[in-house]
Formats: sequence, C-alpha cells, structure tokens
Amino acid sequence: MKLRKCIAILLCITVIIGFCACSKGQTGKNEQQLKWWQNTIVYEAYPSSFKDTDGNGYGDIPGITSELDYLASLGVGAIWITPIFASPMKDNGYDVADYYSINPLYGTMEDVETLIEEADKRNIKIVMDLVFNHTSDESEWFKESSSDRNNDKNDWYIWADAREDGSAPNNWRGIFGGSAWTWCEARQQYYLHTFADFQPDLNWENPDVRNSLFDIANFWIDKGVGGFRVDAVTYIKKPDLMLDGVADGTDGLSGIHNMTANTEGILDFLHEFKEKVQDGTDIFVVGEANGVPNEQLEDWCGENGVFDMIFSFDLVNIQFVNGEYWYKTRDFKLSEFKKIIHVFQQGTDDVWVPLFFENHDQPRSINHFLPDCTDKINGAKALATLLMTLRGTPFIYQGEEIGMTNVNRDTIEEYNDISSHNQYKMALENGLDREEALQCVRDYSRDNARSPMQWDMTANSGFTRGRAWLAVADNYLAVNVGSEDNDPNSVLNWYRQLSELRKEHPALIDGSFNELREDSEELFMYIRENKKEKILVVINFTGKQVDFIPDNPGSTELLISSYGDDSGDILRPYEARCYRQQY
Ligand code: NOJ
Repeated sequence: MKLRKCIAILLCITVIIGFCACSKGQTGKNEQQLKWWQNTIVYEAYPSSFKDTDGNGYGDIPGITSELDYLASLGVGAIWITPIFASPMKDNGYDVADYYSINPLYGTMEDVETLIEEADKRNIKIVMDLVFNHTSDESEWFKESSSDRNNDKNDWYIWADAREDGSAPNNWRGIFGGSAWTWCEARQQYYLHTFADFQPDLNWENPDVRNSLFDIANFWIDKGVGGFRVDAVTYIKKPDLMLDGVADGTDGLSGIHNMTANTEGILDFLHEFKEKVQDGTDIFVVGEANGVPNEQLEDWCGENGVFDMIFSFDLVNIQFVNGEYWYKTRDFKLSEFKKIIHVFQQGTDDVWVPLFFENHDQPRSINHFLPDCTDKINGAKALATLLMTLRGTPFIYQGEEIGMTNVNRDTIEEYNDISSHNQYKMALENGLDREEALQCVRDYSRDNARSPMQWDMTANSGFTRGRAWLAVADNYLAVNVGSEDNDPNSVLNWYRQLSELRKEHPALIDGSFNELREDSEELFMYIRENKKEKILVVINFTGKQVDFIPDNPGSTELLISSYGDDSGDILRPYEARCYRQQY
C-alpha cells in the first residue's frame, strides 16, 4: 500500500507539471501529456497457445517469459494475458475457480512473479484479465451458494424461482446457446448464466461480492501488474424486471445480450471499481464492453468515466446480420469498413480507444476483413498499417504480427471452442445444411485465433515438444517467426518498422485524424497531424494497381512503403505507404 501512496504522489506531481505545461500553451488538446498506455503497443497473449516449455501441450507462463525479448522487438509496452487462474478450462480459463491461484497447466505463482519482474526489466507491464461477470461452477463461492438457501453466500449469484409450470424464469438465451437459466436441485431454484451453464453470473448488487472482487484486483496490483482487461463487463448489471424478450430464433428464446447489456445503473458499480481499485495507481483498465454505443463513450472513458478505454465491437461484427450469429452474414464494402473506423476516430478528442482487428474470440483479420485477398502477405501488411497508424493504442493479437490465417478443419469434431459447437447447432436449426454450417464455423470459429503460435519450421511449429492441445495450422512452414525474422520483407518486419515509425513520428500517436477520399472503394487514406508534423497514410485495399499522386507532391516525402521501394504514381496491390508532408 505504501508503494501505491508514493505512486499517487508522483502522479499528482506529474498532473501539476502537465497542467502548467498546458496553461503555458505548449500543448494543444490533442497533444497533452500522454499516459504511458496511450504511448505504447499492447500485445495479447493467449497462454494456452503461446509457447509450451514443459511439454504438456499447453503454452505456459515461462513460455511467455522466454519470449519477452521477441515482444520487446515489436515495441510492445504491455502484455495482456487472458485468464491464467485456477480453472476447469471448459471455456479456456474464462471459467475461474480461484482468482488467487494459478492454473497448474500454466505454471505457478512464482512463475508469474518472475514474468512480472523480467517484463519490468524490459519496460513491459503485465495486464491481467479479470473475469468478474461470472465464476466457474466449481468455484468455492458457487459451491456454497448452490448448496442450499441458507448459507453465507446465499445471494452471491442470481437465483430465481421457476415459473408456475416449472420452466425457467424467462426466455433469455445464453451467449453460448440454450436457456440462460439452469435448474439447481439443492436450492429448487434456477441460476442465471450469461454464457454457459458452468459460468454462473455473480450478483453485483451484493456489496460483499463487489468488495471481494475489488480485493482480488488489489491483490494483483500489489503483485505488480500494470493493468486489467475486464471481461464481459457490460453484463454485470441485470435489469430489475426479468421479462421475456422477443424470440429471435427457432428456439423461442431471446438473446440475452439485447436484454441485459449496458443496463442503467452499471456505471455506479464501475465508479466504485475505479475508486477502490484504480485511483491512486498508474495502471490502465480496458473494458470488454460489447453493447456500449459510441454516444456513451465519454461516460465510460471520458474525464469522469470509469475505464481508460473500452473495446468496441462494431468493426468485428460488421458482417453479422442478426446479432452475432454466424449463420447469417453479408458482404460489406470498403466504404462501410472505413465508416465504422471513421466514426470512432472522430470521437477521440475526449476519449482514448483501443485499436484491434483480432483477439482470441475473433477469426484471423486477413480472412475476416479481406476474405478475397490472395496475396496474404501484402494484405496482412495493409491491415497492420491501419492498426499501427490510427489514433489509439494498438492491440496486436499473438500471431497477427506474422500474418497467421484461419485454420480450416474437416469436421466439427475437430473444433474445441464451445461457441463453435453451439453456433454450428444453431446454423443447422436455422436451415443451413451440414456443409454450410461447417463453413460458418471455419469462417468465424474462435479456434482460428487459438491454434498454436507458429514459432519455426520444426515439429508443432516449435510451440511444444509434446502433443499440442489444439492442432497447429497447416501453413506453419511458410508462416512462422523464425523465417520471417530473417526476411526484411516479412509481415513481422513490417510490424517492427511501423512500431519504429510510431516512435519517430509522434503525430502517429497524438495527432488528429482526418480522413481523405472517404467514398473511395479502393483507398483508405488519412492524415495524422500534430503541431509539429503531418503524416499521410495511404493504403490500397484492392488486389490491383491504383493510380495515386499525393496532393503537393513536391513537399511530400515517402517514409515507408510496405513493398520496401518506391513505385512512384502507382500503388501496387494492397500496398501501404506513409509520407511526411511539409506545412
Ligand atoms: C469474453 C471472452 O473474451 C471470451 O473468450 C469468453 O468466452 C467470454 N467473455 C466469457 O467469459
């Protein structure tokens, strides 16, 4: 706690110095002193699939420690690690049994302490994933709460009586399919689960629950972590009336997201979280906040908000027609893709945003956003350029930096991910045949992002010397860190160049965003500008050559091109360029 007080005093001094600088007019609104997490790049590691050092087929904490120099070579300042707590692993760690102990598959508490220490030596912070909407049904809290109706944790979860006919209290469908309610014999009541039946939702209305969760977060801050990602946070507040929703599928159920996401009053809980966990520290907190509209960004992340950033899902959901169900998708145009980015870039004067195209729940971005692109290397470089030059903090997901692609499995049985099985079932129920349903899974399965990291050309892509928990993708001989490290034109080295470029040209970090040729279906083009410089970014989002001459060519200097050389007035397929423009 003493350490936290010192940090608080240091922060006050920094704020006062920052204030003086601003009042002397040295910085503009967009260029105020940035916090460390605005100035950095975050890397998301999915521990099961990152690197295995003990041969059990699962990646582990020492595996992450062993690759810190690699991550430092990308300019990464923080590593978000998805949950590593004790867990039965039915949802790969998002079903936590004990937030104070480490899943033995991944290592020990000592391993985590070593990781934090070693990362610190390289100026890298470790960001933990707090799964606070629900626990595992194997958590001691749930075991007690579900044992009868008279125990100390009686109302730590959301319990409700059956309707008169014995059915569930309402018709909500859990995000992983089926009713969001499961019957408990011992209590003769139903409990609510936003996700699977083994992930019972905590009752945040109970102050003891909230304080226990805040204690957990403080325990990890005292261990030295630099931030948190808060899982599924928009669901922590439930509406008072558990009313039926309008059925939106063939099962008569109504997706829970539309009923409970971002319920009025949620910010009161989160202000309390901020006050009891974050205030007085320099950690950053990013919320997984599916369901918060852009107009509310300021309430969540503005000056008096609750988080530093929240993930918005508009872009990754661009192709879904009916909620996030994979069986009904549509094609989209570049202008639609650009519009979504434009909207949230425009609002970033007062809020800061995380930038991401991939995470452990999404398909690989090259397949997701450029499904027709056959030149995967240049396609991946085009997306990388966007990720690293928009306004906000880039979040790189493991493997994205080498251009990993979706994996195509032959049968549904080869998929591990719980939601893939559920979406497959829903696709069949909604009229798709088996092959069509499997194709939806191939396109959107979370396993696409979870196949093991491709380190080199050796067996199992150098991920494990044992049997990998999930099969390695077939293309690892062509796409892997080892080969790309030595190739100046690789996707990996393009990420490194972009990372350097951000350091050399702060306008890419604090500058404003002004889009050009918004209606173009070929180019994504914008200027990042601060008081000192103007950087023009232009990306050809097509597989053909496009004529391009920047305005004022005489005063425009090419900084980098994703092809490594200058082809003058012609942008090659998926080519990305950054220019410096004179005022
Ligand atoms: C969001 C996480 O990113 C996802 O992987 C998980 O399955 C759900 N929340 C439930 O915790």
